[in-house]
Amino acid sequence: MASEKPTVLVAGGTGALGGAVLEELLESGYPVTATWVVEEERERVARDFEGHSGLALVQADLMDPDAVDEAVSGIDGLGGIVNLVGGFSMPGKVHESDIEDFDKQLRLNLRPGFLLARAGIPRMISNGGGAFVGVSARPALHPFPGACGYITAKAGVLAFIRALDAEYRDDGVRCNAILPSVIDTPANRRAQPDADYSKWVPPQQIAKVVRFLVSDDSMPTSGAAIPVYGRA
Ligand SMILES: NC(=O)c1ccc[n+]([C@@H]2O[C@H](COP(=O)([O-])OP(=O)(O)OC[C@H]3O[C@@H](n4cnc5c(N)ncnc54)[C@H](OP(=O)(O)O)[C@@H]3O)[C@@H](O)[C@H]2O)c1
Repeated sequence: MASEKPTVLVAGGTGALGGAVLEELLESGYPVTATWVVEEERERVARDFEGHSGLALVQADLMDPDAVDEAVSGIDGLGGIVNLVGGFSMPGKVHESDIEDFDKQLRLNLRPGFLLARAGIPRMISNGGGAFVGVSARPALHPFPGACGYITAKAGVLAFIRALDAEYRDDGVRCNAILPSVIDTPANRRAQPDADYSKWVPPQQIAKVVRFLVSDDSMPTSGAAIPVYGRA
């Protein structure tokens, strides 16, 4: 029997948070299309989710407008977009940083969201509405020194989500942002071996918030900036 739930596009589904989001959405009965760029990551995700018939994996460099259009146009019944693509850098204070790092953070954290919204929101509207979820970060509201490009970009994600909400709320597309602090990922544990991991939030907990924002359970919620900091 065909799923009654809409298909969710998870951009950056091969990442650390991505794995938890894929699992949560698939276990909740959503058909999911996840994008990948690195072949080894595609193979790993395909292994991890072997037997899940609801998962489709699509190659797409989400910095490339044509690749985004092609990936989105191949999805039937699109009703949700979760954009997890992003990055972090901490080059030092502004006078110690170079413009290339600043540019890179803006592009990586903002460009895929714009391209995904541009390609996907009209399709969601024609399918009767949907949900768009973006990932900002706690420092967008509570900055710390040394990561100006990242923090500016994540503040931009918040502004972008609110702009989407203003443009598409009346069309039935809800747009919300989550704000993680430090997520308990293998990469973060490697980078900070002496940290108190009990204060970090497991990706599985954040994935449940993402599933809520994608689902009709959050029907009255749009334009929100939702902290997923845990005790940070
Ligand atoms: N980790 C944290 O503590 C933390 C804290 C606050 C906010 N966040 C945000 O949460 C989100 C997910 O974080 P994460 O830790 O899961 O990140 P991650 O493990 O680095 O995953 C990033 C994902 O983006 C994909 N990606 C990168 N460039 C791409 C491109 N040009 N086209 C298509 N996909 C691309 C990666 O694909 P590949 O795997 O193929 O490279 C990967 O799937 C990000 O927006 C991040 O900024 C994370």
